[in-house]
Amino acid sequence: MNPYGYFSKDDHEFVITRPDTPAPWVNYLTNGRYTALLSHTGGGYSFFVSPRDSRITRWRYNSLPVDRPGRYLYLRERKSGHFWSPTWQPTCVQLDAYSCRHGLNYSRILSGHEGVEAELLYFVGEDDLELCKFRFRNKLEQPRQFDLFASVELCLGHALVDLINQPNDQHFNEVLFDAGAQVLFATKRYWVTFSGATVKQANQAWDHWAFMASSLPVIGFDGSRSEFIGRWRSEENPLAVEEGRCRNSAITSGDAVGVLQCPLELPPGQWVEGVILLGVVPKEQGREAALALVQKYRDLSEVDRQFARLGEHWEEYLSHCQARTPVTEVDRMVNVWNPYQVQTTFQFSRSASYYHGGLLFGRGYRDSCQDQYGPLKARSEQVKERILEMSRYGLRDGSVYHLYYPLTGGGERTGHSDTPLWFPLSVTSYLKETGDWGLLKIETPYADEGKGTIYEHLMGNIRYVLAHLSSRHLPLFGPGDWNDTLDYLGRQGRGESVMSAGILCYVLRETARMLERLGRTKDAEALEERRRQIADSVNEHCWDGRWYIRGTRDDGGVIGSSRCDEGQIFLNAQSWMVIGDVASPERALAAMDAARQLLDTPKGPKILHPAYTRIDPGIGLATRCVPGKKENGAVFNHAVAWAILAESLLGRSEIAFDYYTKALPFNPVVEPDRYEVEPYVYAEYVTSPDHPTFGQASHSWLTGSAVWMLRDVTEHILGIQPDYEGLRIQPCVPAGWKEYRVQRKFRGAQYDIRVAIPEGRGGTVKRVVVDGAALSGPVLPLAKPGSTVQVEVEVG
Ligand code: GLC
Repeated sequence: MNPYGYFSKDDHEFVITRPDTPAPWVNYLTNGRYTALLSHTGGGYSFFVSPRDSRITRWRYNSLPVDRPGRYLYLRERKSGHFWSPTWQPTCVQLDAYSCRHGLNYSRILSGHEGVEAELLYFVGEDDLELCKFRFRNKLEQPRQFDLFASVELCLGHALVDLINQPNDQHFNEVLFDAGAQVLFATKRYWVTFSGATVKQANQAWDHWAFMASSLPVIGFDGSRSEFIGRWRSEENPLAVEEGRCRNSAITSGDAVGVLQCPLELPPGQWVEGVILLGVVPKEQGREAALALVQKYRDLSEVDRQFARLGEHWEEYLSHCQARTPVTEVDRMVNVWNPYQVQTTFQFSRSASYYHGGLLFGRGYRDSCQDQYGPLKARSEQVKERILEMSRYGLRDGSVYHLYYPLTGGGERTGHSDTPLWFPLSVTSYLKETGDWGLLKIETPYADEGKGTIYEHLMGNIRYVLAHLSSRHLPLFGPGDWNDTLDYLGRQGRGESVMSAGILCYVLRETARMLERLGRTKDAEALEERRRQIADSVNEHCWDGRWYIRGTRDDGGVIGSSRCDEGQIFLNAQSWMVIGDVASPERALAAMDAARQLLDTPKGPKILHPAYTRIDPGIGLATRCVPGKKENGAVFNHAVAWAILAESLLGRSEIAFDYYTKALPFNPVVEPDRYEVEPYVYAEYVTSPDHPTFGQASHSWLTGSAVWMLRDVTEHILGIQPDYEGLRIQPCVPAGWKEYRVQRKFRGAQYDIRVAIPEGRGGTVKRVVVDGAALSGPVLPLAKPGSTVQVEVEVG
């Protein structure tokens, strides 16, 4: 039991029952352009498209008190002057009742204090604005008069510049109030878009107006933070709220806020409702565009209609894959939270969370390629768009950018050994799910010169990697592979990555399978030949006796070997030799057994063991990190997900399911207070027993772990795998399961699949019956779009 909350009966909401959780527990509100991160106490920031370039509101990293500022309400009773926040923060006045229900792109915060019940519903509209629909009810017997203050702290443009150059940046802020329309407007008359500390900046203004309005009458406003808060105060006790009177401060310089003061009469017993709006419009459309939106959304029935549509959107989204298994925790993840997290991760890459400040890296190429699995079932058109976008960050020689900035363009090329390899995987996954072979023919420009089809981009990536192998046919480590923190063992061009060899082998196999379907048998055979050569080399040079080494170093040394003092065994080097079909059956079992024996913890297998206690400059950052955290020996969920995949491929259902269960985010192992982060989404890593804070998790929400965990459970545990010819059925469920069902939409048809395991164990598909007719193999043929197919599977 989690002392801070529980999942609602239908699993569509996580209900937080007290505000003082160990860390802010966050949700994402978004329409794909306008995004608000919202914590369970009203904290968080908003941005338009890019969290770095077009930040609307501020959020203070490293803030004390934590999680400030946010979108805050203050209720002040006129008679007594007493005020509080129905989200608890920032006044932190104790509430008689409190709960926060995080749902799919919406949150509700319900609270009570001093005889006033409050219900706040937050979501982002179809237009680019966030809404807080509120209802208040006075439970006392006499009418009462309040002022409602709604406040946000504005950033208005480039968030990093705002953070590090505020004394100068504030001179371009402008906040004004349109008294006739009762709308507050804010913008910045300058907009930094070039990255880095450079004086070469474009001569331009931020291209948006932010606006704020309410459906209640507005009797006061503030645009100046110092006027609203007062001297030597904070969000906890703004002078304007304390005195019950906004200063009506418009500004042309200084720190900007948006504050509206609305009188609120609460008759006894009745609900009084309204809405607070915060949004943006492009400057070129003028402020009139905002006024039209304000008018539209002041109509609460429009707000309700849009909220209903948001719910319908998610119902439809989730309907693409629904499972009913003997384990409710599996259903919860497969049916709701895992698809929700992967869609969020797809949208925001590693750029906008409470752990990724949205200031630095733009979109990671490898991350984004993997993230594309997220919306593939339900929103393949978004994946197609992303594939096309990313192809433009590939160069003519087949190398790719390592990260890029979708809004402003540009990025960084680094030479990580694995990065180009993920693009072919996202393309083949897309083809298997959709059958949309036309994708391969679409032409897009290379980042340097000329253009090529997606097919050419993809083959270029593979050619590039194959052209940069060591003399032993192994991928060169370069400045890192998937593990970014093994960053100083291969910079001189000699170190080799065994993990990248595994990924490469997998990609070559997948690409060869694609080529066969294109009738390019010779090309497919050529890739398969290269695959064998690489696999042979790994087996010849990289087998350590009981497991595979992780790589070689520029200086000729090895990592991940029993000969090393520390970092003797790495999980990824074992899993990927199974996934890439490098290991023989005996070595595969031995390697995964060694991993289980040496790496497993109560929260699943660690990324490596023993953790590095001494800094090794010839390896890099992994050894500088404290033992037990991050890439230095944590339970790194991304790697755990690959171990689950490898164990499933080996048919070891008990181990696969054991790892899967341990990794579930609501399984904190030590205790929720130690785990700290949200129990409804995967975190990047959990601290291993190698550190005194064993069990502490971090970097929740945006992580490739979520993507691979979903793949593990749907494709490899439940065993419903999209393939070129149809859905392949290959279950690997734990003993004791007798039956489960999966409803899966695939290429426009609906498959209702019932898997029976009469003996309660065994992993071989014995019989598949489709609409009454027995099949000869485990692949469900394609059905007519729009049709529903009944599938009975027997496993024994
Ligand atoms: C983080 C990065 C990812 C990297 C991994 C391991 O998850 O986003 O790109 O592969 O760490 O270093």
